[in-house]
Amino acid sequence: MRKKIVAGNWKCNTTLQEGIQLAKDVNTQVEEKGAEDVVVVLGTPFTHITSVVNSVNKTRVGVASQNCAAEPKGAYTGEVSAAMVKSTGAGYVILGHSERREYYNETSEILNKKLALVLENGLTPIYCCGEPLSIREAGTQNDYVKKQFEETIFRLSVDDFKKLIIAYEPIWAIGTGVTATSEQAQEMHAFLRETIAGKFGQEIADETSILYGGSCNAKNAKELFANPDVDGGLIGGASLKPEDFIEIINAY
Ligand code: PGA
Repeated sequence: MRKKIVAGNWKCNTTLQEGIQLAKDVNTQVEEKGAEDVVVVLGTPFTHITSVVNSVNKTRVGVASQNCAAEPKGAYTGEVSAAMVKSTGAGYVILGHSERREYYNETSEILNKKLALVLENGLTPIYCCGEPLSIREAGTQNDYVKKQFEETIFRLSVDDFKKLIIAYEPIWAIGTGVTATSEQAQEMHAFLRETIAGKFGQEIADETSILYGGSCNAKNAKELFANPDVDGGLIGGASLKPEDFIEIINAY
């Protein structure tokens, strides 16, 4: 059975002290009442990763960076490599978030380099995809996301593809308070699973966790997660509030 996963994406929020407190609060909630069959991941700023790794029960709460460098090491001022992330004890890297694609010109070519390095270092990529509003309005969202796959993760070997977590995040739903309806989420997730099956076979498709992201919160998580092809969520705003985040974790 594919895993149920709830991952927080803190984005550029919290000071180190606030982040440690948040991680401890989430950890307490997870230890006290978190559903045992849900994998919980906290996507923290680079500066917080080591401290957060050391503040949580590693058997219950995983830690992710929100990006990594496209080069293994060297003269790239300001960059943080996949090997560095690995050395903190983190287990995951969020890659291809729409904010990185849009504000930092992250192309498929750059993403492919990052994917390779993340996988080489034994980290699990949380690969983000999703269409902007104009594409949704034109009704061509399926083709758009399929193309994102074809340019990146469909170039991986089967063995590497199996290591991925996918997060479908319609850009028009991120941070806007507008959530995709439960039907819209299911429709896209089913399409993505079918597309994966077409490329790598049904067995692999059935084992791939596809998370929904975009204004997912304590109120709507239950309905979204009730869909057969929605395997959890990538949570932005609501992951900064431990009481909301635990409700999302327990929304299955
Ligand atoms: P949001 O962000 O939950 O605040 O909409 C989700 C994300 O960008 O990962």
